Amino acid sequence: MKSEREQKLIEQAYAEVEKYETLVNRDRYRLRYHLMPPVGLMNDPNGLIDWHGTYHVFYQWMPFRTGHGAKFWGHYTSPDLVHWQAAPIALAPSEWYDKDGCYSGSAISCDGKLVLFYTGNVKDEQGNRQTYQCMAVSEDGIHFTKKGVVITLPDGYTAHFRDPKVWRYQGHWYMILGAQSESGDGKAVLFRSADLCHWEHLGPIAGGNMNGLGPFGYMWECPDLFPLDGQDVLIVCPQGLKPDGMRYQNVYQSGYFVGRFDYERAEFLHGTFEELDRGFEFYAPQTMLDRNGRRILIGWMGVPDQDEDRQPTVSHRWVHALTLPRELRLTGGKLRQTPVEELKQLRKQKVAYPSATVVNELRSWPGLEGDAIELRLDNIELFGSMMEIYFRHAARLVYNSDEGVLTLERKSFVNGLTEKRQCRLPRLRSLHVFLDTSSIELFVNDGEETFTARFFPHPDDQTILFGTHGHLHMDIEKWDLLR
Ligand code: FRU
Repeated sequence: MKSEREQKLIEQAYAEVEKYETLVNRDRYRLRYHLMPPVGLMNDPNGLIDWHGTYHVFYQWMPFRTGHGAKFWGHYTSPDLVHWQAAPIALAPSEWYDKDGCYSGSAISCDGKLVLFYTGNVKDEQGNRQTYQCMAVSEDGIHFTKKGVVITLPDGYTAHFRDPKVWRYQGHWYMILGAQSESGDGKAVLFRSADLCHWEHLGPIAGGNMNGLGPFGYMWECPDLFPLDGQDVLIVCPQGLKPDGMRYQNVYQSGYFVGRFDYERAEFLHGTFEELDRGFEFYAPQTMLDRNGRRILIGWMGVPDQDEDRQPTVSHRWVHALTLPRELRLTGGKLRQTPVEELKQLRKQKVAYPSATVVNELRSWPGLEGDAIELRLDNIELFGSMMEIYFRHAARLVYNSDEGVLTLERKSFVNGLTEKRQCRLPRLRSLHVFLDTSSIELFVNDGEETFTARFFPHPDDQTILFGTHGHLHMDIEKWDLLR
């Protein structure tokens, strides 16, 4: 059951969807096979869960404008991670404890119910922030009833304390939250519960100035802790890291620590922080364990405060999208991300050019164009110093084999100048590219590295060009994608 106030907000949101539907759908940058908001701003994926044979993805949603504010939880469901259906709005910011936003959180299954945990964001008249960790419950996975506050702010932290991710381990529930300590360090804080209503504060398990890590940003958002391939992985989004060579080029970061989590001592011994993605738009990812035991990650194709209001889709009253679902594996201590198998269902028309060759030239092949396509380049062999791929004259991937550096360039949507993101890559063996009308997701060497970005080519430009200084051989496969 929803309160009258919540119902009213939901009606207002639907009115907004209806009002702008035509404008939104007229946008040629509307994506073909990614999750997007029906109107307004989408940010973090929330509440990822495979529940009773259906995948659920909720998301942070501001229906009333293309900026941030008092967030709703939008909701999509899917039988297969490919075909998604909009479900009714799950949560609206209606109560005293969440009136300025039903902020990010997670979903679990308990006693046949789908239970959500989220952060109630509250601001008083002076603009001071308060934070409450809240619960909402559903019998059918579609209609949610709020149960109110389950955790209030513990001592030692500022009100930047949010984004509960909950899981079960050996008869107990655990919750990890993103936090800022009173001394100004980003932290990941752990709670434990037997009944989901009463939570015991176990303290920070990772953060700046602990576990051998020096200062590491002023706030950590959206933590996620899970076992993978025999180790434990903590994903976090630190804010306040300075750019460092090729690293930390976005306004805020998203990355992970690999280590071992000791439940007895609530202690996480971990290695160094690694960025999850090398592209321009990637933040606040969340994972779920699915029916087949896969660890699946979906991220937000956006970064807070990173010229969001300059995104070209804003003129059509919507902004941002989610990444494709990716399967995570841990190999050699490093996270590897690959698009989930199911995405092959999108493949329609195929063209293939086995043993394609480029020699000191810029060239293309017939049939590689398309505004929603998948491209696989396998068995790449480069005899020369450089290879490049132009995507629709608006993005360019360059591999410099002398330096062992891979670079993604795009035309900035702020000033039209070329901007770049890079990573070290000793060898380039394969590239797996998903292009949508205004996004690119690049999986390098079977997911060893990924680059995720929005880009805004001329809508009629579908060219893909390959160039090299030297000789380049590869097997090309390309599919048109259709949902
Ligand atoms: C991350 C974040 C979360 C917060 C949510 C609000 O992008 O700032 O920390 O819960 O967005 O929409």
